Amino acid sequence: MSSELLRAEGLCKSFPTGEGSIDVLRGIDLVIREGERLAVLGRSGVGKSTLLHLLGSLDRPTAGRVIFRDSVDVSTLAAAALARFRNASLGFVFQFHHLLPEFDAVENVMMPGLIGGLGFSEMRPRAVRLLQEVGLEHRLTHTVGKLSGGERQRVAVARALVLEPALLLADEPTGNLDPKTGEQVLELMLEMNRAHGTALVIATHSPELAGRLNRRVVIAEGTLEEALP
Ligand SMILES: Nc1ncnc2c1ncn2[C@@H]1O[C@H](COP(=O)(O)OP(=O)(O)OP(=O)(O)O)[C@@H](O)[C@H]1O
Ligand SMILES: [Mg+2]
Repeated sequence: MSSELLRAEGLCKSFPTGEGSIDVLRGIDLVIREGERLAVLGRSGVGKSTLLHLLGSLDRPTAGRVIFRDSVDVSTLAAAALARFRNASLGFVFQFHHLLPEFDAVENVMMPGLIGGLGFSEMRPRAVRLLQEVGLEHRLTHTVGKLSGGERQRVAVARALVLEPALLLADEPTGNLDPKTGEQVLELMLEMNRAHGTALVIATHSPELAGRLNRRVVIAEGTLEEALP
């Protein structure tokens, strides 16, 4: 069995609201192995996006911790080290893409590399190739603010994969796409998994997409269960 990539231990997340706090996640234990392809399922509002944010250390758990490669407790990293770790090891595709609207598609996809100290001449061809793979070769120099929702989603997927991360966390990455484009985006993620061993954790409502991955977990009432294969 391949080695451990990310381990969540006793993850809890509560949100304060006007009428007291709501306990969305109530003790989640999860081990993700190198190269695994995991679907996170569950009804709307059960906490799938919340879990992905915690796994990617974009938000802090109320209790519990996240361990990377059996050694790094990401909750103990200071802000700068955490940002470096996320940039080098993780890729994110979230419902709000956090792209830079005034930069064009190629620039957005190059950005993680430029931030990580790689050169323009190395990053640009990589960015162009990934944008071609998601069917955006005709939109390379559009500023992102002028792209459609599905086009932005594809830019976000290309950006998330450009540094060949150890782990891709994707929240409904094909949710806004027509079936053919969705298939193209899924195929790119699967190819990254096959070629570079990128582990995939994908939150989705699509049984079809989940069926293309090799493991499925379901969140209900704050806890997580393995779905039968
Ligand atoms: N910052 C927040 N403050 C208060 N409540 C929140 C916050 N973020 C999420 N929630 C609540 O936590 C619950 C889980 O939200 P989350 O976005 O993780 O659900 P989800 O499973 O991803 O749903 P969907 O399938 O609709 O995307 C929801 O009931 C939501 O209203
Ligand atoms: Mg969600």
